Amino acid sequence: MISKAEAIGNGYVIVISLSGKESYLFMMKKMEDTLKKNQEELIKKNKEIDESREKIQLTLEKLGKTYEELKASQLKILQQEKMASIGQLAAGVAHEINNPMAFISSNLGTLDKYINRLINFIQTQSEVIKSLKDMKAIDKIEEKRKELKLDHVIEDVKGLIAESVDGSERVKKIIHELNCFSRMNEEEYKKADINKCIESAASIVWPELKYKATLKKDYGTLPLTKCHPHQINQVIVNLLINAVNSIEEQGKITIKTRDKNQSIWIELSDNGRGIPEGNLSKIFEPFFTTKDIGKGTGLGLSITYEIIQRHKGDITVKSEVGRGTTFTIRIPVI
Ligand SMILES: Nc1ncnc2c1ncn2[C@@H]1O[C@H](COP(=O)(O)OP(=O)(O)O)[C@@H](O)[C@H]1O
Ligand SMILES: [Mg+2]
Repeated sequence: MISKAEAIGNGYVIVISLSGKESYLFMMKKMEDTLKKNQEELIKKNKEIDESREKIQLTLEKLGKTYEELKASQLKILQQEKMASIGQLAAGVAHEINNPMAFISSNLGTLDKYINRLINFIQTQSEVIKSLKDMKAIDKIEEKRKELKLDHVIEDVKGLIAESVDGSERVKKIIHELNCFSRMNEEEYKKADINKCIESAASIVWPELKYKATLKKDYGTLPLTKCHPHQINQVIVNLLINAVNSIEEQGKITIKTRDKNQSIWIELSDNGRGIPEGNLSKIFEPFFTTKDIGKGTGLGLSITYEIIQRHKGDITVKSEVGRGTTFTIRIPVI
């Protein structure tokens, strides 16, 4: 048993000294208070959780965006490195192939002349033998002629040489384009008017262009900028030829230049066949071509890309199959 004083000291006294109903109400009130307090605490905690969730969501979104940006720049770097190394390799190979190609090409020309002479001689010889009316000799010659399939050889040999000459011309064209990579550094770097570079490129392409398209020029006033004028010229030639090639019958090509935000903008559009989406990431790669063998080298756009890189600019493409293509170039004004 505890004494009254002890009970007061321990706090039991309140319950003990209240009637049944009062004690019930008191307990209820106390429980209600505690519940309310817990509820308030819960609401506060919930709010905190909501806030944290929002923060996490935001961080996640930021992370996702950063990841996408990282992926894009990694792709860009990979692409740049791939093109730079293929370009250098190609220029080296071109240099090595150049010499043997020069004598192959020249020898083919001489061979063509010699073969013609030999054929001429064989024909004269067989006519002479026939005129001698020596049947034994004629039969022997005819037999040998058949055995060696000489008629077929004579017919075929000219075609073979013509094909080889054609092939070597193609190799020479590729070498010429590849050499642009290695010669790029040697060219003069000076202040120039890019509109003038474009104008001179347009006049180079004009003989090819005039039958296929109308050329609309929309030149803005441009400040002079430091560049390799011949290279810019080459870029426009490459783009114009591609534009002409993309037009089936009759089309329209537009060149627009503008000076904006310390940069020169060149926009070249055509209403040709367009580029399928799957090809858009490949067109700047060396040797990517959709043209027939002998028609395209697949080097035009990779050289173009390389030149714009060297000018610290960028080139982008937008295209819609059946509607046309627009290349946009930005070169910073220096
Ligand atoms: N204006 C254009 N319209 C449609 N396709 C184009 C255009 N420009 C480039 N292409 C596509 O990009 C490819 C690569 O171009 P390029 O590097 O100049 O090589 P090539 O012209 O020798 O094929 C072309 O074969 C073509 O498929
Ligand atoms: Mg081309």
